[in-house]
Order: sequence, then C-alpha cells, then structure tokens
Amino acid sequence: MLAESNNCDFLKKYDGSHVEPLWTVMEAMVPPHPNPKCVPHLWEYEKIKPALLEAGEKVGEYEAERRVLMLVNPNMKAPYTTDTLYAGLQLINPGETAPAHRHRAFALRFIIEGQRGFTAVEGEKIYMNKGDVILTPPWTWHDHGHEGDDVMIWLDGLDLPIFQNIPVNFAENYEERRYPSEKAENSSLKFSWEPVEEALNANKLQVDYADYEYRKPDGKPLSHIIGGEAERINAGGASVTRRETCSRVAHVYAGQGYSELVDVKGNKTVLKWKPNDTFVIPAWSWITHHSEDNVDSYLFSFNDKPLQENLGLYKAETK
Ligand SMILES: [Fe+2]
Repeated sequence: MLAESNNCDFLKKYDGSHVEPLWTVMEAMVPPHPNPKCVPHLWEYEKIKPALLEAGEKVGEYEAERRVLMLVNPNMKAPYTTDTLYAGLQLINPGETAPAHRHRAFALRFIIEGQRGFTAVEGEKIYMNKGDVILTPPWTWHDHGHEGDDVMIWLDGLDLPIFQNIPVNFAENYEERRYPSEKAENSSLKFSWEPVEEALNANKLQVDYADYEYRKPDGKPLSHIIGGEAERINAGGASVTRRETCSRVAHVYAGQGYSELVDVKGNKTVLKWKPNDTFVIPAWSWITHHSEDNVDSYLFSFNDKPLQENLGLYKAETK
C-alpha cells in the first residue's frame, strides 16, 4: 500500500506546475513529537572569558557596536542558540560606550560580573550588578556605558531567531552615541537578584527545589516572546523532572552540579556546570537539575514560553 502511495511517476507530466505530494513527507510535516534542531550544549565561562577579554583588547569600542561573542548551537548557525532563542556574552571596558540604537527585537541582560556599568533605556540610566535582569523592550533607545574600573560582562538574551522566519526586525542608530538619560533608582525594567533569591528560599527548609517566574509589575511575562525563570536546588537535591515545548538558555548564578537531559529520541546527555556557565535545554527534552552535596545551586533561564502561550502552542509535562 505504502509503495503504491509512493509511486509518484505520474506527477512527472505535471513538471513546472509547482505541486508536490504531501503523502511522501507526511511524517516530517506532522511528526509524532516536537523536533528541535538545537542540541544540548554547555559553554564553560572559564573557557569563554579569556576570549572575551582578548576581544576587549583587540576590538575597539568604535569597531564593535556591541562586543559580543555569540553562543552558537553546535548543530545550528548564528543567531541560533536554540531553535527560538539567541544568547551572547557581552563585554564592556571601563570608560566605553556601546552606542544608542533601537530595534524591533527584544533583549534582556543577565549580569555576570562587574560594577558601575549601566544600561540606559529610553532615558532611564540603570546601573547593573551581578544577578540583575535588565530589559530593553522592542523599539526603545538603549546604550551601555561603564563608570567602573574593571570589565563588565553579561549574558544577552534576544528573540533574534524568530526574525529568521518573520523578517521584520530592523534597527535605527541614535544621532549621538548616548541617548540622554538620568539615573533611575527603581526602574520597572530592572529585576534585582535579591528578591528573587528571597522568594526562592521561602520554602528552602521544606523542599529541595523551587522555581520563580519573572513577571513585570503589570503581572505579564518579560516580553510577548521571551520569559525568565530562576530555580533553586538544595545541596544534594534535584529539581522536578519536566519537559516543555519551549526551549531554554540556562545560566548558573551560583552553585555546582549537573543537569540530565533525555531528548525526544531517548538520548541522554549530562551537562556538568559551575558558576557562570551557560547551557541549552532543547524543546521537549526531559530535564532534571542536580546540585552537588556541599552547595545550594541557583539557575537563571530565559525561554520562549510567552511566545508559545500567546500562540496557544505551549505544553509541559512533569514526571
Ligand atoms: Fe540593542
């Protein structure tokens, strides 16, 4: 029956009519499970940081509008860190400016190290400290500057892959290098780490694991496309085991441990992590995080859950 169905010789006489049989590619078009192209991968901070520092020496602030090393998935090309998310590590030297621009893409920053650096967003000058999440919503003027005396490094999270299929991202440069801004003490675009950790620790003595979903003051996710989450895993403990249709870029705020992933085909990967490492969780992989015996671990991750929820596509399961 299948062989008969696959007999497409009769279509030869319709060459040039731009039709193709669906029945020969049915499984690829309507597969039995999600099919992410990205693979699990971990970028060790201690291996990437020297490359970033070298970029800081060799690539001047006027040469690089943004001095970023993109985290490119081994099974894909830039801008894909996952099928839906882009991540990069950005460095700014003391005294430098990353000039003002705005674009349709949304960005968040998770600050890894450094002090007295700032992101200015639409007139709000927001100083950055380790663990802060800072948003630059679509089409807001933003620049970065640095008044401290050591490098600032952060993780950028953007929705750039979406624009490969919906090609409507574009940018504008501001006429000056900096958009006029004033120090903002309490910006709605900044999420400090302390209250997040406090919320995560509320049930620390009762359970080994907690998660926290970042929400804006209006209760909505961080953007229409990208969301943020933090997780605590007690020393010697493990997270829940779950799988989701969204993918994630996870970053180790503190602690040490490993994550077990089992992909849609049953292949198992173990990623061992330390502070400031960044790793990929492909869509629909079962994932369990484990913290080493002697230390509590805290992870930050961003995801495309809001995009999928807005489209009615999000699905999650736990074991
Ligand atoms: Fe930007």
